[in-house]
Amino acid sequence: MNLEKLKSNPKMPKHIAFILDGNGRWAKRRGLLRSLGHKAGFDNLKKQVKFVQELGIKNLSLYCFSQENWNRPKEEVDYLMNIFSDMIDEFRKDYLDKDIRILISGDLDDERVPYETRVKAKKLIEDTKEKTGFVINACINYGGRQEIVRAVNNIIKSGANAINAEDFDNYLYTKDLLPLDFIIRTSGQLRTSNFMPWQSTYSEWYFPKKLWPSFSKRDLVKSLKLFMRRNRRFGAIKE
Ligand code: IPE
Ligand code: IPE
Ligand code: MG
Repeated sequence: MNLEKLKSNPKMPKHIAFILDGNGRWAKRRGLLRSLGHKAGFDNLKKQVKFVQELGIKNLSLYCFSQENWNRPKEEVDYLMNIFSDMIDEFRKDYLDKDIRILISGDLDDERVPYETRVKAKKLIEDTKEKTGFVINACINYGGRQEIVRAVNNIIKSGANAINAEDFDNYLYTKDLLPLDFIIRTSGQLRTSNFMPWQSTYSEWYFPKKLWPSFSKRDLVKSLKLFMRRNRRFGAIKE
């Protein structure tokens, strides 16, 4: 893999997102418990986060847990919440002394999320908020429609009576992030599942069949090459 050539390509995306899907099927195919699929998914996530940063991509959003995922069995939800707690600890340990901002998008006031996790998450967001080198935006207890309603409620509270689309951006979790260029949803499911409906209006989408725990660095390179071949028109006419 010639990473230098890839990195210097002016068409490289600046903000990409992963919808981490397929952990359960990955485990099932191996005769394992779903939780082991999530464990493998988390291990892969750590590898991919480092790789995305090495590639010089500025912002990385991760869809880790949707508001609809509360509909899963309690044991699975508890297991996932433990993973997120570990993930926050590891992000703090690995990234606090680096120029890396950690954002956690989603409802962190929801009492279904364990109290310590909410406190740790808010502290990490606060402690890294001035960093600009690379942004990891982990979406936990996130819903795109809920994010829009939250924005509307905050606009009402602010007293504004008319705003435009650019102003609206400032009420979203992603307000300081670059436009979302590219969304990769693994596992071959062709839907958005409530992920960033506002931010993704002009994103490019890609739905590789690979399940998240098996999605490799090579798969990411392939995805990026595909992205760079797309002709993004934004409503205009381009050759
Ligand atoms: C993605 O894997 C992880 C989360 C949604 C938290 P899934 O658990 O959805 O895996 P599948 O779709 O059942 O294979
Ligand atoms: C979407 O995956 C949410 C995350 C990856 C966190 P799901 O597996 O929950 O989505 P559906 O239920 O198949 O739409
Ligand atoms: Mg799934």
